[in-house]
Amino acid sequence: MTDLNTAVVAGTGAYLPEKILTNQDLEKSLDTSDAWIIERTGIRERRIAAEEESASTMAAKAGKQALEAAGVGPEDVDMIIVATSSPDVLFPSTACFVQNELQAFGSAAYDISAVCSGFLFGLSIAEQYLKTGRYKHILLIGSEVNSRIVDWTDRSTCILFGDGAGAVLLKRVEQKNASGVLSTHIYSDGSLSDLICVPGGIGRTGINKQDIDDKKYSIKMSGNATFKVAVKRMTQVIQEALQFNDLGIEDIGLLIPHQANERIIRAVAERLKYPMEKVLMNIHKYGNTSAASIPIGINEAWRSGRVQPGDTSVLGAVGAGLTWGSAVIKW
Ligand code: ACO
Repeated sequence: MTDLNTAVVAGTGAYLPEKILTNQDLEKSLDTSDAWIIERTGIRERRIAAEEESASTMAAKAGKQALEAAGVGPEDVDMIIVATSSPDVLFPSTACFVQNELQAFGSAAYDISAVCSGFLFGLSIAEQYLKTGRYKHILLIGSEVNSRIVDWTDRSTCILFGDGAGAVLLKRVEQKNASGVLSTHIYSDGSLSDLICVPGGIGRTGINKQDIDDKKYSIKMSGNATFKVAVKRMTQVIQEALQFNDLGIEDIGLLIPHQANERIIRAVAERLKYPMEKVLMNIHKYGNTSAASIPIGINEAWRSGRVQPGDTSVLGAVGAGLTWGSAVIKW
């Protein structure tokens, strides 16, 4: 593919709430153990949003940082996309609250719902608008307040999730494929919607007391089945991204995977024959922050100098839907 424009990551940001919930804290209220959680997931602690925080407040903080890092003013933002599955309210969109907070009134602002793959779905949208030349600056944010949609009595799910936000400011640069987002590949399979879901009806049945009593407004997951499909799909979609760009796995300087489970990431790296030293891992600190996990990882890599101009990274995620995707970025 030859494009006249590229979509370049010009700035990054992240926000993690201050409150840390450790595995030891969870031991006090659940029949679980620090050792079990570490062995099965790699998670040691996660962040929990304060009462006054929400997906929009965290997204605005991460977004502001990304704008500052890019040297782009809020008045120059053409579009704000927030990937979230824990929005402030059913509507208006979380992105509209973020727009107001950032005073970025020249932008179109909306949310997308692809759960843990949300950031990659958003990147795929942003890539098109920038490469076609329609827009110049797109603020793409992943933000989740998972602590509000987990059942804190269900040890098989609540131990996995955490809160946080990550953001990138994507900028159109008029050059041919030299750097920036080289590709995105996204997929869905609605026949697997039962694997991970929040089953309580809103538009389907109206919010109802029975569903509240049955804790249907929190995350339900078939862990084992999800694990297997996550390893398979993430491996396949990363291989597809490499092939599309005519790259070998040895050309990749950093793999930035969605952080759902350390064992999933290790299994994917093993299938790709890729060394774990070159995989960005922060699941031990933050758990699964769903749509926020990849941009939090990008921000970490960018600010620590783990990615340098000319390096190539591959991103990969699998989430509820089922949804999955990959992207290749040249820095
Ligand atoms: N502490 C102690 N024991 C536990 C806990 C816990 N927190 N949770 C479950 N167990 C027990 C189970 O009850 C079970 O006991 P049993 O054998 O007596 O029945 C045993 O541990 C094994 O349970 P499994 O579910 O088989 O454990 P597994 O090794 O599969 O790990 C996990 C579970 C961590 C959930 C794993 O399956 C996983 O990570 N799955 C994928 C998650 C994922 O990728 N999600 C996608 C993104 S999320 C999104 O999109 C919102």
